[in-house]
Amino acid sequence: MDANFETIEVTTDVLILGGGMAATGAAVEAAYWAKKNNQTVALVDKAAMDRSGAVAMGLSAINQYLGLDREKNTIEQYVDYVRRDLMGVTREDLVYNIARHVDGSVHLFEKWGLPIWKDADGHYVNEGRWQIMINGESYKILVSEAAKNALGTDNIYERVFITEPLFENGKIAGAIGFSTRENKLYVFRAKAVICAMGGAVHVFRPRSTGEGLGRSWYPPFNTGSSAFFTLKAGAEMTCQEVRFVPIRFKDGYGPVGAWFLLFKAKATNAFGENYFVTNGGELKKYAPYGTGKPIPACLRNHLGMLDLFAGKGPIYMHTAEAIQAIADGESDPKIRKKKLKELENEAWEDFLDMTISQALLWAAQNIEPDKKKSEIAPCEPYFIGSHSGASGAWVSGPEDLAPKDYFWGYDHMTTVKGLFAAGDASGASSHKFSSGSHAEGRIVGKAAVKYAMENKDEVALSDATLKAAKEAAVAPLKLWEEHQALSSDPNVNPNFLKPRDFMFRLQKIMDEYAGGVSMQFTTSKFLLERGMELMVMLQEDSEKLAAEDLHELSRSWENVHRMWQAEAHLRTLLYREETRWPGYYYRSDFTEMDEKNWKCFVNCTFNTEKKEWEMVKREILSIVD
Ligand code: FAD
Ligand code: ADX
Repeated sequence: MDANFETIEVTTDVLILGGGMAATGAAVEAAYWAKKNNQTVALVDKAAMDRSGAVAMGLSAINQYLGLDREKNTIEQYVDYVRRDLMGVTREDLVYNIARHVDGSVHLFEKWGLPIWKDADGHYVNEGRWQIMINGESYKILVSEAAKNALGTDNIYERVFITEPLFENGKIAGAIGFSTRENKLYVFRAKAVICAMGGAVHVFRPRSTGEGLGRSWYPPFNTGSSAFFTLKAGAEMTCQEVRFVPIRFKDGYGPVGAWFLLFKAKATNAFGENYFVTNGGELKKYAPYGTGKPIPACLRNHLGMLDLFAGKGPIYMHTAEAIQAIADGESDPKIRKKKLKELENEAWEDFLDMTISQALLWAAQNIEPDKKKSEIAPCEPYFIGSHSGASGAWVSGPEDLAPKDYFWGYDHMTTVKGLFAAGDASGASSHKFSSGSHAEGRIVGKAAVKYAMENKDEVALSDATLKAAKEAAVAPLKLWEEHQALSSDPNVNPNFLKPRDFMFRLQKIMDEYAGGVSMQFTTSKFLLERGMELMVMLQEDSEKLAAEDLHELSRSWENVHRMWQAEAHLRTLLYREETRWPGYYYRSDFTEMDEKNWKCFVNCTFNTEKKEWEMVKREILSIVD
């Protein structure tokens, strides 16, 4: 290992990886139980918690709130909503567990100072049935402040990039990482580890290339570290085929929820046809899911894609019409004018609170939303188990709810002893969003402390394991050092490749063989098998990643993490022989949904001893009628 690197050893009972919504929830709860029971907790984030992860720019809505205290909805109704949205494939016990705790997280946010919109009677203003409106520019700062207060800043390690899990004999032992600012390696030893490092972006070639590169809907900071960490530790993974393709305002990637739900805007093709109506007949093919309300997210995409693929684009969101229609509800011309102004402000604020670049793009393209319609389009695929995708680790359900086969001791623990997952990192429990991820974080925070108390023996790590992990962490720097003098161009060298070029190759494979944007989200056995061949070559070359500095060291590891997420995706796409989520992806060789053979989970595990992937079907066990 590079002699210039100092090693810092940190020993704690519970280790939280990530500083996002799930991790901050875990911090608050774990700190509470740890204090009562004389346990220690530490948290590691690769960035600065105040603005890290998906909520960095802020949000304008909380997308999971049930209103249980006012009996607005029931938990069972939420489970049914999620189950239908994911075309029947969901862990109902996990969704139920999160739903029964989520309102508590929202009430904490309000207590910590988050402004939530209220109506004249003092009740939260709903965007849709499950979503409530917030002034959320500082949302992330508030939840991170609460986590810092709970843990104490001495127990928080910011700007430390986690590279790999440390484990021995099927038990987690900690994690290793490096500082993104100083020549320091961190070895964290812990009895329980909570993985909450978000989902993955830039696995597929993005629509934004050239001058727009880096702009995406999903935040560029989350690069598959959760999937890599859990896979590499030997945890069983689920729903790795269920990526999310969001429909977004084109190129600025502004979300559509407020427009569809709050402003009741309509989307049409370029000929003015409402594709929800003209293509609505398609939904019957996907009964019972497609025939319920709301239409599942993938099928909403599918209806629009049918028109796009038939050359009837662009697709437009009719923002101006929607604003006018609401204002027209006021008969007094003065009030109508005031209402128009208010709605115009809300339209801009929606993006200024959450996706500032969309507001900038509107301004740059002379788009006034109250006067002009805007293009919307399907984005490149992302891995985000907390939203309308479902990929993540296969975790234990809670004892009081989980069917026998879904329960192995501790709430939301993976199949690796002592390793927990929450938020985007845990799978088959979609539609948690920011609030549900925080609530799931609280659930694992409590469970991890319990685990640490009941499993007191430290997992011993062999010197060989530690040495290998330390060397691997900084290997790209060493490779650069050894060979850089051979070439006058820092990016072109026969002995190594740079992370940027590596990423482009990964994205090209995924885009062209795994159903990316350029392939109209379509793939087949033949394409996937060829994609796997190319992936094997990419893996061989990953040994040759070189980094000029700490910044490029992060970029190198981000791409290794993405590559593992990509492989899990390719393998699972190939295994499931049907098209269950049209609008997310299409199998050209199995074009129909096949309830008889494929209404099941497809899970995969990387066997850490044999160094082989194992695929398995798991039964869907329902707990709600
Ligand atoms: P994140 O909150 O993304 O946190 C991941 C954390 O892991 C970050 O701190 C990151 O720095 C850290 N990390 C990553 N890799 C490493 C590593 N290698 N080492 C150390 N740390 C690492 N939800 C709503 O409720 N309402 C909305 O309006 C809404 N809008 C959204 C808009 C966008 C653009 C996106 C992307 C999501 C939106 N969501 C919304 C969903 C919500 O943001 C997510 O569900 C939630 O943030 C998931 O929480 P998480 O903790 O899993 O991930
Ligand atoms: S965000 O996370 O980037 O803000 P988005 O704005 O699409 O996502 O969606 C916010 C919420 O609204 C999610 O719960 C999503 O499922 C829901 N939603 C968006 N569009 C529709 C629609 N047309 N019908 C029903 N629900 C919708």
